[in-house]
Amino acid sequence: MTLLLPCAARADGDAARGEAKFQDCAACHKLEAGANNVGPSLHGVFGRKAGELADFRYSPAIKRSGIIWTPETLDRFIADPQAAAPGNRMPYAGMASSSDRADLIAYLQQATK
Ligand code: HEC
Repeated sequence: MTLLLPCAARADGDAARGEAKFQDCAACHKLEAGANNVGPSLHGVFGRKAGELADFRYSPAIKRSGIIWTPETLDRFIADPQAAAPGNRMPYAGMASSSDRADLIAYLQQATK
């Protein structure tokens, strides 16, 4: 058995590669402010509390998770959403590769501003 323990977010992500990784998320998330889809808009997500957009109906699980979105918390969440916020309703199994996640997060740090 392999134990997958996501470690601290890597700071060496490649935003150009991360843009391609965002295809994993784009079916459900838009980056424009106020553009909620299946999932909430990710515009301005860094520094925001989980479950904070007034115009999106979140699960109670994500609202009470107490997560503040930073590169580190997002890394943990994307690696294994159900482990990071048990019971949340994001239908995504997780991105296993830490270098893929670092690329994606580097892209999101630019694209969600
Ligand atoms: C199949 C649809 C789907 C996919 C794919 C998906 N998400 Fe989500 N996401 C959701 C839903 C639905 C929620 C709200 C979950 C809840 O309320 O429990 C969510 C919530 C989130 C949140 C919390 C936002 C907030 O305002 O607190 C973040 C961050 C997030 N997703 C990032 C991602 C990223 C990054 C990816 C790609 C790796 C991704 N999601 C893939 C549907 C999706």
